[in-house]
Amino acid sequence: MEECYVNVAESIRHAHKCIALTGAGISAESGIPTFRSKGGLWEKYDPAVYASIEVFRQDPAKYWTIRGDFIRNYDQYRPNPGHLALAELEKLGFLHLVITQNIDGLHVKAGSKNVVELHGNLRQTFCLSCGKEYIAPHVPPGTPPYCSECGGVLKPNTVLFGESLPPEALLKAQQESAACDVMLLIGTSAVVFPAAALPQVTKRGGGKVVEINLENACPFADYFIGQKAGTALPAILSLLKKI
Ligand code: OAD
Repeated sequence: MEECYVNVAESIRHAHKCIALTGAGISAESGIPTFRSKGGLWEKYDPAVYASIEVFRQDPAKYWTIRGDFIRNYDQYRPNPGHLALAELEKLGFLHLVITQNIDGLHVKAGSKNVVELHGNLRQTFCLSCGKEYIAPHVPPGTPPYCSECGGVLKPNTVLFGESLPPEALLKAQQESAACDVMLLIGTSAVVFPAAALPQVTKRGGGKVVEINLENACPFADYFIGQKAGTALPAILSLLKKI
């Protein structure tokens, strides 16, 4: 494992462009449940019901049942050593960009500047009728909450199943995945497309994929570090500061 860390640190140091693609696993150590691990959100709630745009239109309360508490406690969730290490890697010039599937905003809170939020974020909530914006945690009470101006239903700025990803975010993610020579693939089961295709885009472009995950979800990863992101990323950072 020690040798693997050194090889990964060397790859990052020699990379022309290193990027990260993150999933729910990086936020697990901040107390936010993942989706597909044991005890994950989709074990308890069927995503086809609780996270689909079709169901949201008919019954928005379902979505707010699983997201309302998070949005109202938004300020309580803090970045963990994994998020902070990525922010510092960027600051030191080792990391160009973070592409995240997470909607928790923790990369931004950690200080990462160049972040693509592929699935949107829970910071912003909009009225579907008049467009008024509410910033978490300042969202009216109720499941679902209604707009204080016009009474319309509120929807967070997140991508639900059945919706398209923000086109600019997706294009940037695809371009940067093709152009990078190292992708850090962190805490994602890599099963939800189009994000799940990005590591292959990197490989096709001749780049290396470094997977940091408790399980080996990416069979073609060049390196696999089977440790928590909050352990592995600070360790890589500390090696890069030394070499
Ligand atoms: P998943 O829940 O599918 O996968 C989380 C991954 O993180 C698993 O492979 C775990 O092994 C790993 N993991 C757990 N704890 C970890 C830790 N401390 N350090 C490192 N790895 C850890 O979450 P995602 O892959 O992010 O989309 O899910 C992708 C998308 O599916 C989400 O963005 C969401 C969901 O449905 C939408 O809602 C549109």
